[in-house]
Order: sequence, then structure tokens, then C-alpha cells
Amino acid sequence: MSAFLPSDRQRDIYIRGSRGIKPELPVDFRTLEEKAKKKLSRDAFGYIACGAGQEDGIRNNLKAFSSYSLIPSMASGLSSVDTGIELLGKSLPFPVLFAPIGVLSLAHPRGDLELASASDETRVPMIFSNQASYPMEETAKEIHSGPYWFQLYFSKSKDLVDSLVHRAESCGCSALVLTLDTTTLGWRVQDLNHGYLPFIRGLGIAQYTSDPVFKDLMADIDLSNQDSGGFSIKKLMLAHDLMKNYPGAYWNNWRTKDPIRAVRKFIEIYSRPELSWEDVCWLKSRTRLPLILKGILRPDDALRGLDAGADAIVVSNHGGRQVDRVISSLDALPVIRKQLPTDFPLLLDSGIRTGSDIFTALALGANAVLVGRPYVYAMALKGKAGVVEWMGNLLAELEITMKLTGCCKISEIHPGLVIRK
Ligand SMILES: Cc1cc2nc3c(=O)[nH]c(=O)nc-3n(C[C@H](O)[C@H](O)[C@H](O)COP(=O)(O)O)c2cc1C
Repeated sequence: MSAFLPSDRQRDIYIRGSRGIKPELPVDFRTLEEKAKKKLSRDAFGYIACGAGQEDGIRNNLKAFSSYSLIPSMASGLSSVDTGIELLGKSLPFPVLFAPIGVLSLAHPRGDLELASASDETRVPMIFSNQASYPMEETAKEIHSGPYWFQLYFSKSKDLVDSLVHRAESCGCSALVLTLDTTTLGWRVQDLNHGYLPFIRGLGIAQYTSDPVFKDLMADIDLSNQDSGGFSIKKLMLAHDLMKNYPGAYWNNWRTKDPIRAVRKFIEIYSRPELSWEDVCWLKSRTRLPLILKGILRPDDALRGLDAGADAIVVSNHGGRQVDRVISSLDALPVIRKQLPTDFPLLLDSGIRTGSDIFTALALGANAVLVGRPYVYAMALKGKAGVVEWMGNLLAELEITMKLTGCCKISEIHPGLVIRK
């Protein structure tokens, strides 16, 4: 394993540049996104980039970060900084994790496996998505060096929830993240314009199709009164994709029609619109893992989460994908921080693009942040190497920002170092 040293990034880039070698991967987010857009299919890029409605939620996230100014400190005598933190009983080298992102196979054929390998090299923990392209057991095998977590969507079937939680515990996940904000899919205009939902093509449902309880559940789908609706090339191509994306032998999949059953069952049970705080308490009682609630934006919900036994909270608006014009996570953060015990772990995602974004979130009360879309674009362009490179750049900027603001360690980053414009 090569040493991952973000502090050397800037020097390395300039030295390579002096030899005429420019970074293949854009260092700034905007160019990264533009490049990824050119590489990915229209549908894949749309799925990753899109937000709900007019996408004001995405803009709110970015605007919130740029509404803060940072206040540097002079001659603070810092030549190096310590970016390490303690989170849920584990030491992490950086206050950053990879956000759970579904259907990573849209960005790279090895999707989750590629990310897991990047996580192993960088020691930035990965959160396996409930909508992954590979089963959690396969992904876990790629990580030898650090903790990894599992993110759960609360299914209509509690037996399935139990099974997924049990599998996460068995394959070594050290925490369980329950995403609360997606009890129904947001109104995602780009995907609607494209008529594109990856799950219907059998993508992003590997945690289900590898699950023994789900396999039992899907057996009761009756395909005998299926409306054939006539033949068309488009339908044939969709069916071909489905058969190809499903585990097992292609022709056997045509014969058993299991891929069709799996998609039908998935659509029927993937979410639990009636999710309640009692369900959260129930989940807490079903696992020995720390429970982290993702998607909290209000202080009263944070307090309910605390009562339900949450061990940590992720302040998140799901990257603006669920509710248009949603409050930015960054605006929600200080209000929530104020309501919770000072040592209660609070994470934030939605809009982290730079090292100074991380610094701002930490200053406003987050203990760590989750990075989302940027790593997906980096993966689309350069696979695992792209993810490692992007993460190195992000962390290098965080280290530089800490040095220039006089923060020798993460605990020295405080609200007085940022000011709202
Ligand atoms: C393509 C895509 C898929 C996602 N899939 C999931 C998921 O499966 N589970 C989940 O909890 N959050 C999911 N998220 C939300 C992320 O975990 C995170 O909250 C979001 O990406 C943060 O916003 P940002 O990427 O703009 O920083 C997804 C986000 C994107 C962009």
C-alpha cells in the first residue's frame, strides 16, 4: 500500500508541473463535474448530479458555504497540523468519511469495490450504501485498514431490515447509519425528464438480490398475469439490461424471470413511508452497532433522535435531492449543535467541495463531514486512483487552511474563526 500523505500534494503537483505533467484530474469541483459530464451517459450524469425540483436545494448548500468568511491568524508557528479525530470510539486520521452513494456502477463498473479500495488506501471510512451495486460482504473484503459503516433504508419488511443489519454486523461494519429523509423518492426533475430510474433496470439493488430474506420475499411475486403490452425494441433492451445486471447466468435469468421479480419486490418494499420514531427505537434494539441518524435538519428531530437512542447524527439534506428549496445543512448545523450535549457526535454533508468547506463545517460544530458527489465524479474519470487523488487534494487544502488559521489540531477549530458575510 502506498503512503497516503495529503500534506505532500501541493509540492508534488508543482514539481510534476515543472516537468510538464499537469494533473489529469481537475483540482477544482466545477471543472471536475464538467469533465465527468462529458464522460458519463446523459442518464447516469443526470442521476448523480440532479436535485429535487428546481434544484434550489443544491444551490442553497453551495451558497451557505460561500456565505461564510474565514479569519486567518498570523505567525502562529505551525509547520504541521494533526487532522486526527476520535469518532464513536475509533481514531480516524481525518475528519472525513465517504458518504453512502447508491448505484456507483453508473460511475465505474467496479463501483463500490473501487471506492472500498480507495477507502483502504486513504483510511477515509466508507459508508456502504443500501443501494449499492455490490453486496456489502464483497465490498468489505477490499478494506483491511480501517472502519467502515453500513447505511440502511428502512424497508416495509422488518424481516429484511433485520437481515441487512445482521449481515452488516457479520461483515465487520462498525456502525449503522439509518437514512431518514428518503421515505419516498424526491421529485427529481432531470431523472423524470429522462424517464430514468436505475433500480428499474436492476442497478443498485445488490444488497437486496444477495439477501436470503429478500429472495424468499420475491418468490411470492406472481408474474402469470403480466401485461405483455406488445413487443418493442426498447422493451427488449430494458429486459436485456435487467437480465444482464442480475446475478447468475444470463440465460437462466431469462428462464426464471427472477430479475423481474426482484425489481417488482424492490419497488414494493424498499421504503417505509409510515416510518416513525417507534421504528427507530425498534431498530436501536435490534443491533449492537452504534446507530447514526442521517438526514436531520431540525433541532426537535435531533432531540427525538437522541431520545430514540441515536449515538450520532448526520445533518444532511441528501445533497438537495429530496426537497426543493430545502434549508442547507450548513444553516441547520449550528442550531442543532446548540440543542445537543457538547460531546454528542454531529456529522454534516451536502455541499462539501473544498478543504475550507470542511473547516467551516467543523467551526460551526460538526465533528466530521461526509463527502459525496465529488468522489463519484473522480471515480468516473479515473477509478480508484481518481478518488484517492481527489481526497488527497481535499485534505491537503484542509491542512493548509488549518495552518493559515493557526489551528494545530481539529479541536482548535471553533466558531470564532468564521464569520457570516
Ligand atoms: C447519486 C447519489 C446517490 C445517493 N445515494 C444515497 C444512498 O444510497 N443512501 C444515502 O443515505 N444517501 C445517498 N445519497 C446522499 C449522500 O449520502 C449525501 O447525503 C449527498 O451526496 C451529499 O450531497 P453532496 O454530494 O452534494 O455533497 C446519494 C447522493 C447522490 C448524489
